[in-house]
Amino acid sequence: MNTVLIVDDEKNYLLVLEALLSEEGYQVITAEGGRRGLECIEDNDLDVVITDMKMPGMDGMEFMEHVKLRLPDIPVIMMTAFGSVEKAVEAMRKGAFDYILKPFKNEELKLTIAKAVDHHNLVRQNRLMARELQGKYHFGNIVGKSARMQRIFELIEKVAPTRATVLITGDSGTGKELIARAIHYNSPRRELPFISVNCGALPETLLESELFGHEKGAFSGAVSQRKGRFELAHQGTLFLDEISEMSPPLQVKLLRILQEMEFERVGGSHTLKVDVRVVAASNRNLKDEAAHGRFRSDLYYRLNVVHVHLPSLRERKDDLPLLVNHFLAKYAEEAMRDSIGITSEAMERILDYHWPGNVRELENAIERAIILSNGQEIEAKDLPYEVRDPGATPPPPGEERKSFAEAETYIPELSAADRVPDSGMKVRQMRAMEFIKTNGFITNKYYSRLAEISERQALRELSELVETGRLLRIGKGRACRYVMS
Ligand SMILES: Nc1ncnc2c1ncn2[C@@H]1O[C@H](COP(=O)(O)OP(=O)(O)OP(=O)(O)O)[C@@H](O)[C@H]1O
Ligand SMILES: [Mg+2]
Repeated sequence: MNTVLIVDDEKNYLLVLEALLSEEGYQVITAEGGRRGLECIEDNDLDVVITDMKMPGMDGMEFMEHVKLRLPDIPVIMMTAFGSVEKAVEAMRKGAFDYILKPFKNEELKLTIAKAVDHHNLVRQNRLMARELQGKYHFGNIVGKSARMQRIFELIEKVAPTRATVLITGDSGTGKELIARAIHYNSPRRELPFISVNCGALPETLLESELFGHEKGAFSGAVSQRKGRFELAHQGTLFLDEISEMSPPLQVKLLRILQEMEFERVGGSHTLKVDVRVVAASNRNLKDEAAHGRFRSDLYYRLNVVHVHLPSLRERKDDLPLLVNHFLAKYAEEAMRDSIGITSEAMERILDYHWPGNVRELENAIERAIILSNGQEIEAKDLPYEVRDPGATPPPPGEERKSFAEAETYIPELSAADRVPDSGMKVRQMRAMEFIKTNGFITNKYYSRLAEISERQALRELSELVETGRLLRIGKGRACRYVMS
């Protein structure tokens, strides 16, 4: 039940309003004058305050200022006499939620109060959510309220300040790199470099010189001396991603460094000493790899001083709503759109899906849905088809509205019937319109590719379509897209 405080110096008015609003289902508290009103504020959990402007002693404006100091979120509705609109405007400027001119129609008052209550609930919810996100369900920018994530937060809080080597395992997209960074940025090394090497991305010899550096002439192509990542990470943190992909000879070298913090550049004889904290990650089970002889056991034990295993997303579904909200806020801000919500149907689909690509897949799905959504809420239809309708076969090209990434490679055929005859448009502009009809929108970048013109020229031609009223431009910057007007 929502509670309304009414403040007025005329007792009759209070009685009438009390009867009216009680009938509407509000709990009503009345106060004769501003001072009495302030006493009521202390003792009640209010949702809305309505006050008369002109009162002897403390007037409505002064009363509102006191209310705002104590309860900044509470909407205050100002009642003013018909002749004093300027006063009402001033009240709005000072933070009134709305004003209402006396005498008013009952319906008008009810509507204004209902709006204020909704607004207040929303503000309260957002605050709660923000507090939750900043508080215990957050570690830096890592989100998670499930018991397993909470335990991981506790663990990294403990090990981050130490020098201990950390091994992070987990499926692709579970957040291994995010955890590695969190460890670095919560350690005393945070001001010094965080250097990352993907051990799976380079052939053995290149990886070796990448890690340890090389002297001039060490091999053909080594035209100058080069520092390796171990040297660059001195006093900082080195993140060895996909460590299971490292070749056996390099594994031996790595073991030596981890034990002695000493090494030579490739082709060099001078021994270098460094102070590096190592964090390694793998999406394989490294213990199994070691048991099967595919990874050196001694290196495994040396890396595995502290082990963080990230559960896959389907093992911690209670994190889904929080993650969804986190990404909604992130990408709405990037797209410069107001806050975006999600329908309960869409949330249900998200909860039912098994997320093989884990958090990365969820993040991409939300980013895409925000681009596709037209309203203030993401609906089930904005989600990728496999989430929307698991088990269904993928739709044929053209039927599925395309995401940015997909749209990059999809080129629609022109249907002759829909051609706009003699419209003054260039053929490629008509193609763009066709594309929008099938896919919902087009971006400047994609139009430039489709038409094989520069992005600048593409912008000119799309703007022309906007100016002639054929298209609408939505959003700004990177997220700007064009839709049918
Ligand atoms: N708990 C989380 N909270 C917020 N964002 C997350 C979380 N986990 C992962 N992410 C986001 O998901 C994406 C993938 O995370 P990350 O790159 O750390 O995964 P990974 O385990 O290293 O994946 P891969 O094995 O494929 O390299 C990133 O954009 C990251 O910011
Ligand atoms: Mg990674």
